[in-house]
Formats: sequence, C-alpha cells, structure tokens
Amino acid sequence: MRRLAHAEAGPSLALIKYWGKASAENNTPATGSLAVTLSGLTSSTRASFADADRITVNGQIQNLERFAPFLDSLRAELGLAGARFAVDSTNNFPTAAGLASSSSGFAALAGALTLLAGREPEPRLVSRLARLGSGSATRPVYGGFTVFEAGQEEAVAEHDENFWPEFRVVLAVVREGAKAVSSRVGMERSRLTSPYYDQWVSTSPSVLTGARKALAERDWNALGPLIRQSYLRMFSTMFSSNPPLIYWQPESMALIQALESLRAEGYQAWETMDAGPQVKVFCPADQAEALVKELDQRVSGLRFLTAAPGPGLRTWWDQN
Ligand code: PMV
Repeated sequence: MRRLAHAEAGPSLALIKYWGKASAENNTPATGSLAVTLSGLTSSTRASFADADRITVNGQIQNLERFAPFLDSLRAELGLAGARFAVDSTNNFPTAAGLASSSSGFAALAGALTLLAGREPEPRLVSRLARLGSGSATRPVYGGFTVFEAGQEEAVAEHDENFWPEFRVVLAVVREGAKAVSSRVGMERSRLTSPYYDQWVSTSPSVLTGARKALAERDWNALGPLIRQSYLRMFSTMFSSNPPLIYWQPESMALIQALESLRAEGYQAWETMDAGPQVKVFCPADQAEALVKELDQRVSGLRFLTAAPGPGLRTWWDQN
C-alpha cells in the first residue's frame, strides 16, 4: 500500500499588503503584511515519492519550471537530496486569479512534503519552507489572523480564527482564469521601475502597526481606512511601474465606487484587491448578505463567495 501525505490549507487574504521583496533570493518581504486565513476555500494536496517530479493542479500537469526551485530548496532543507515527488493538488475556488491560491497551494504543498519527509509538520518549519514557493504562503499555516513582518523568514499567528466571530469576507469574482503577470514578476517590476516604490516601503510600517492595533480592538472605524490605504498605495506602485501593471477591470472600479456609496449609507464594508481583478470586501457578518445583494444589483455578472476566518494547515496520512 502506498502512503500519501495529505495537507489542506485555506488562502491567506491580506488586509495590509506585502508587495516587493527585501531579498529576491531568499524571498523575504520588503513590507510587512497582516492577513486572514479564509474558511471554506481550500487547497488540498496529496504527495508521494516517485521516480520523477510531477505536479498536477486541478488535474492539469504543471510546467515544472515554476516549481523546480521550490522543490530543490525543499529537498535541501528536508535532507531528501535524491527524492522525487508526485503531487496532486486541487483548489475548490478559481486558481491564479487573485484569490490567493498560491498562498494556500504552497502552504499545503510544503505541509504535505514535510510530512512525507518524515518530519513533524510544525507551523514554524512549514511557514519557513512555504516562503520558498510564495511569500504569502507563510501565512495560512496559521488560522485566523497572521502577520508576516518585513525581512522575516516566517509568519506568526496574531489572533486565532475565533478571535472575531463577526468578521466576514465577501469575494466578488470579476473574472475567472489566470492573471497576465504573476505577483512575483509584478513586484520585482515595481521595485525596479516605480518612482513611488521606496515611499511605499518606507510608509508601510506605520500602516501595519495601526492596523494591528485596530484589529486587536476589533475596531472597524480604525481598521477600514487602513485596509483601503494599504491596497491603494500598493496599486500606486503597480500603476506607476514600467510597463504599468493594471490588474483592474471595469467591474473592479465599479465595485470600488459602489462600496464608497454603501459606506455613506452606513455599511462597514472595506475592500481590498491583489494581483488580479477580484474585489474582496471585509465586513461584519450581519451585513454580508445585504451587501452581496446591493453589489449584485449595482454591478452585473459577478460571482460572490463569502468566507469567515478559518483554520490553519491540516496534515494527515491517506492510504491508497
Ligand atoms: O506571495 P505572493 O507571490 O502570493 O504575493 C502576494 C501579493 C499580494 O497578494 C498582492 C499581497 C499579499 O500580501 O498577499
């Protein structure tokens, strides 16, 4: 019987953004991020030893180029120089479209391979290993709210998934399908070409500090404007990159404007965006349903998902 190491993780959605690397080689962030691990959306990954590396995502064979440096670093870290892996991963939500599937995907992959290597998949180790695949993948190793500080090699748990039971995220899916420029390429382009990049980096610590305090106090009035400031400053470095990075679609802008008027009507609904056109809205649970209805009426053709803070990485053995 073949034993399969199995791991599951949810995507990590940043309230305060990581964009830009302190070290490209070591994949450490130039800006600290504060994120929430989402419930209900899952990357589920099974790994076993094989004759050659082979990775499928949602049943499709992947080009190993994107994964080879990650697999090689992991082999070195886990003392498995000669080992090769067969990996099958599935996401129950759109892949590579700015719904943070790389965060959950690499967290689950690092967790499954750590278990397969016979090591205890304890969060600090898996967080460090997951970083080699994707910086945001350091975070969903932990449930609830997490912080990945600038220059660090692993994320830390900030508050667990029960800390703020009324906290929800409404995900408005504007376009399905993979994005044109990966965040890895995009953030390096911003660092090298945006005249605003240095200001983005130097002003981000105070936004992060303020947001951690506001979150600790569960204070929407203080947290919301900082969430908005973080993604709009990040996008300022994207728009001003050369060539520019424009991940937005007309519906993204329509949603941003709809949310501005909904806030004026009393909603505590604060949007963010990542390297893709989707708009993600943080709001209190008792407003989520009405908010979806309002947004659906104002911007047509969208798909909505709602998530709460969810658990961190789970790992176990499957028999096959
Ligand atoms: O680590 P990556 O390559 O998934 O980059 C994440 C970048 C953003 O999603 C835009 C921001 C973030 O902190 O998640």
